[in-house]
Amino acid sequence: MQTDTQQIKNLPIGVFDSGIGGLTVVREIMKQMPDERIVYFGDTARVPYGNKSKETVTKFSEQIVRFLIQQNVKAIAVACNTASAQAFPALRESCPVPILGVIEAGADSAAAATGNKKIGVIGTASTIGSEAYQKAILSRVPDAEVIGRSCPLFVPLVEEGLWEDPVTDEIARRYLEELCNRGIDTLILGCTHYPLIRGTIGRTMGEGVKLVDPAYETARELKNLLAQKNMLADGRPALGEGGQYEFYVSDMADKFKTFANMIIRYGILSARTVDIEKY
Ligand code: DGL
Repeated sequence: MQTDTQQIKNLPIGVFDSGIGGLTVVREIMKQMPDERIVYFGDTARVPYGNKSKETVTKFSEQIVRFLIQQNVKAIAVACNTASAQAFPALRESCPVPILGVIEAGADSAAAATGNKKIGVIGTASTIGSEAYQKAILSRVPDAEVIGRSCPLFVPLVEEGLWEDPVTDEIARRYLEELCNRGIDTLILGCTHYPLIRGTIGRTMGEGVKLVDPAYETARELKNLLAQKNMLADGRPALGEGGQYEFYVSDMADKFKTFANMIIRYGILSARTVDIEKY
C-alpha cells in the first residue's frame, strides 16, 4: 500500500490545450509545483478549437484524455478555456483520474477580485457563446453583471508573435471599447493565449481594471487537490527517468518547440508528434 501511494505521487500531471496557449498554465504549474513531472499535449494539428462545435471540441478533448491516461498521469489539467467551457462536464464524468478545468478557477479569482460586481470576460467565440464563465460567476456572485466579448483575432496575433505591436493595439481597442465603457472593474483573460498580450490588454482597459489570468488559480487549485488526495510529488524526479517535462503535439513539433521556449523559457529539448486520431 505504501509503495502504491509513493508510485502515484511521482507520476506526472497531464496538461492539454488546443495548441501552445496551455503553456501559460504549464508555466504556472512549474512555478508553484517545481517538483512535479508534467506531460503536455498540444493539439497543433486541429487548432483552433475556438470556432468549432461543442461536439467536435468534446471528441478532440476525449481523445487527448485517453492519450494522457495512457501516459500514466495521476491528474489532468484542461489548460484550454474552450475545452473547459464546452467539454469539461463530459470529461469529468469519464476521466479515471482527478481532472480540473480553468473556468471554475477563473471564476473564483474574478469573484474575489471584483469590488463593483461588474466583470468582463474575453475569450474565443466558442467560450463566450457557451456562457460557461457567466454561469460560474453568477453561481458565486448572484448579483454580478457579467459582460462577455469574443476576441477571435487575438489568437492568430499571438501566434504570429505580435505581442507588442500597433496592429494588436488597434484590434484590442476595437474589441475592448465596449467593455471599457461598461464600467467593469475586473476582466477575465478567458483564453490561454491572452496572458501573452496582457500588456496590450492592460493598457487598453486602463489601470482601474484588474486582469484575472485563470492560470494562476488553476495551478493553485490543482496543488490543493493533489495535497488533499496525498498525491503531491515527494521530491524532484531523479535524472534518468525520462526528464521532468515531456511535450507532445499532433503536428509541427519544431514550430511548437520554438514557440514553447519563448513562453516557458525552460529549454524544451524535444517535442514528439503523436497521431491523436488513433485514441
Ligand atoms: N487555447 C484556446 C483557449 O484557451 C484558444 C485557441 C483555440 O481557439 O484553440 O480557448
